[in-house]
Amino acid sequence: AEAELQARFDARIDADEKIEPRDWMPEGYRKTLVRQISQHAHSEIVGMLPEGNWISRAPSLKRKAILIAKVQDEGGHGLYLYSAAETLGTSREQMLDALHSGRAKYSSIFNYPTLNWADVGVIGWLVDGAAIMNQIPLCRCSYGPYARAMIRVCKEESFHQRQGYEALLVMMQGTPEQRAMVQDAVNRWWWKCLAMFGPPDADSPHSAQGMRWGIKRISNDDLRQKFIDATVPQAEVLGVTLPDPDLKWNPERGHYDYGAIDWDEFWATVNGNGPCNKERLATRVAAWEEGRWVREAALAHAEKQRQRTLK
Ligand code: 3HC
Repeated sequence: AEAELQARFDARIDADEKIEPRDWMPEGYRKTLVRQISQHAHSEIVGMLPEGNWISRAPSLKRKAILIAKVQDEGGHGLYLYSAAETLGTSREQMLDALHSGRAKYSSIFNYPTLNWADVGVIGWLVDGAAIMNQIPLCRCSYGPYARAMIRVCKEESFHQRQGYEALLVMMQGTPEQRAMVQDAVNRWWWKCLAMFGPPDADSPHSAQGMRWGIKRISNDDLRQKFIDATVPQAEVLGVTLPDPDLKWNPERGHYDYGAIDWDEFWATVNGNGPCNKERLATRVAAWEEGRWVREAALAHAEKQRQRTLK
């Protein structure tokens, strides 16, 4: 009966086995994965917009080619993750309707404007750096299709972070104005990137269950701390100052202490009132509407092909 199935499922999770699409799973496990994977996919697709804005404004052909490759990768990650979510019984239309209607979330970080070219480098260095921190543990997620998708995604993310950091290194060897642009971008993005990891563990409604199910392997606060510890030395090499007067190595803890994150601002943005939420959603809805004829043509063509094979 149900109790027996639940017990067997729990034993499989405890044995670190991978749960596959056709396996029995508790409804809550399925719902959590649909929520997380679809919102992860939305994050990738909406994440194309802030930096996509700079493809036509890149300072050189080399930077333009790199940025096109990165934005294309994000799109691919999104489609990959929508497919992983579909193995749980949801459909592309349902997920996209949830995004376009404002019901579904996507990573808060994409609701801030990219004001100049330094932002593109800082997004690669810090946003993709944070995304890598968050996605590596997901390669060990108990749900097979998600874990496998993450392994592929993480391979491409390391290129995203390195290209951003390298672009900043070049700017920091440039004019005082260029150095000031980098510092200004770091000042605007640093705290928002720390918030990307999600609310403090004590305020995270999903973390405990997510960890019990082997979906979340490392807590929001622990990943945030890992990111800070790894990034401070990189900022020193780059020659920028991280905008936190409380940031200080704590030998007892073996970690950096850091200041308070503005969670009111985070929740305001998550709940739709950030600087670019309306613009990002309007852009996605417009792309969906304008692309309707392409989808219909492709489906009509596929149907004709199918009819032909039936003759
Ligand atoms: N932005 C928006 N919403 C967020 C958020 C953020 N940064 N952090 C947390 N939230 C939301 C959660 O989705 C949840 O809301 P919901 O119930 O409506 O879904 C609520 O805040 C409570 O947070 P919890 O910590 O309790 O929720 P989770 O246990 O799901 O943890 C998470 C949040 C860490 C984002 C987790 O869902 C996760 O690991 N998701 C997959 C990874 C992901 O989405 N990463 C985004 C990185 S951006 C990216 O990948 C693009 C990059 O390549 C540029």
